[in-house]
Amino acid sequence: MASAKEINDDAVVRKAPLFSALDDASAASLRASMTPVKVSKGNTLFKEGDAGDRLYVVVDGKLKLGTSSVDGRENLLSILGPGEMFGELSLFDPGPRTATATAVTDARLLALAHDQVIGWVTEHPQVSLQLLGRLAQRLRRTNEVLADLVFSDVPGRVAKAIMDLGTRFGVQKDDGLHVNHDLTQEELAQLVGASRETVNKALADFAGRGWVRLEPRAVVVIDVERLSKRGK
Ligand code: CMP
Repeated sequence: MASAKEINDDAVVRKAPLFSALDDASAASLRASMTPVKVSKGNTLFKEGDAGDRLYVVVDGKLKLGTSSVDGRENLLSILGPGEMFGELSLFDPGPRTATATAVTDARLLALAHDQVIGWVTEHPQVSLQLLGRLAQRLRRTNEVLADLVFSDVPGRVAKAIMDLGTRFGVQKDDGLHVNHDLTQEELAQLVGASRETVNKALADFAGRGWVRLEPRAVVVIDVERLSKRGK
């Protein structure tokens, strides 16, 4: 009999774009063709510029996708959690990896070789539609991030990033929305595209107004309405 953990893992994986359009039998067969991969907290799975030959689905844990400038400054493109997929760009637009993937917490993943993805996409057109949907979603989000970098101030971007992380990783409790982002202050700043000092100032301001409570690697959002409004 499957354990509770296996059943939960299955439900998470089924939400990934590769799987969501498949019937149970095809999903089970796809899953069986994937290789489990573990990455420990702080370890890098692949680096920007590496050759890429597989994509990944996150089963458990969080990863960050980042790029760095020639002078060593880092920018985070995204934080990924369970059910999310990455590593497909180097397949659809053949070339090196466009970002570095590093585990923010211990993470379990499933990997699928790019040539196997092509097989699935060719035999199951509905899988391609799901993948296109996900790529379009990402482009929409990237456009929004770009517009925010130009039009929004740092506190607005911090508020938006917390609410985005809260929507994906938050747990509602009696005292507020607990957003266990697992990021250091430096990583949060890299995600927002600002200095650590400016991001800290914005967070301290939100805390002073009673909108959030700051905890190590977590934020408790007490006033969702006000914080969301600040991030608009
Ligand atoms: P690939 O280039 O193979 O390896 C890095 C991965 O990061 C890439 O595939 C995408 O899956 C992912 N990625 C790149 N840019 C973004 C972005 N702007 N938002 C979210 N994910 C991204």
